[in-house]
Amino acid sequence: MANLDLPVIPEHVAIIMDGNGRWAKQRGLPRTIGHNKGVETVRETVRAAGEAGVKYLTLFAFSSENWSRPESEVEDLLGLLRRFIRRDLADLHRENIRIRIIGERENLRSDILPLLLEAEETTRNNTAMTLVIAFNYGSRNEIARAVAKIAKEVQAGSIKPDEVSPEMISERLDTADIPDPDLIIRTSGEERLSNFLLWQAAYSEFVFLPCYWPDFDRQQFHDALRIFASRDRRFGGLSQLTTTAVVG
Ligand code: FPP
Repeated sequence: MANLDLPVIPEHVAIIMDGNGRWAKQRGLPRTIGHNKGVETVRETVRAAGEAGVKYLTLFAFSSENWSRPESEVEDLLGLLRRFIRRDLADLHRENIRIRIIGERENLRSDILPLLLEAEETTRNNTAMTLVIAFNYGSRNEIARAVAKIAKEVQAGSIKPDEVSPEMISERLDTADIPDPDLIIRTSGEERLSNFLLWQAAYSEFVFLPCYWPDFDRQQFHDALRIFASRDRRFGGLSQLTTTAVVG
């Protein structure tokens, strides 16, 4: 792990890959070129995360709101994801990377759902790192689906309304078997969550970087890990430093 000697590495890093369009516009290029370049950054980031010792990497690839983009851009993005899975699946599998997909699967197009399922199935026993791809993902939709499952269980009498707990909700989210993100990175200078992992981000650290996603590289990834390592995470309790100082 060259150039990276940190006391703590986040177990789970989640990334909002933003700014492909603006990167292209800045260069007078069509947006699709920005997305193409964005896929190269995805490949590089998966490699960098694995090498740094990150165990879960979640990438916000396509939000449930992205369907409202012009049809040609939606097709570009879906085409890129399809190609990424077709071309990179063998490499990811060889590198012992497990793929998990989060997001609404109901009514997903037949040219994409089987590919996503195949990627999950092929890599399900891999252990080096889990690459979580958020596709057709919206956090409020995910929470609503979890609540609907609980409502059905209450209706069936298997749980009582008073027993509903945060853990029960977590267990019914798409991320049920995935730890909450320790670090959420967003590129492009925007500083918002945009309906991404709202429930799971309760105690995440946020790092907002000014660069556009196609310009994000290993160096910037390491910078984000360094910023994370310098943060004092308290989870609503007292700082380790404060506790040590008080206790002596
Ligand atoms: C944001 O840029 C990026 C997206 C909406 C999609 C990200 C998708 C990829 C990088 C490619 C496919 C993903 C994988 C995992 C292979 P934007 O278009 O919102 O940029 P803008 O805000 O500058 O317009």
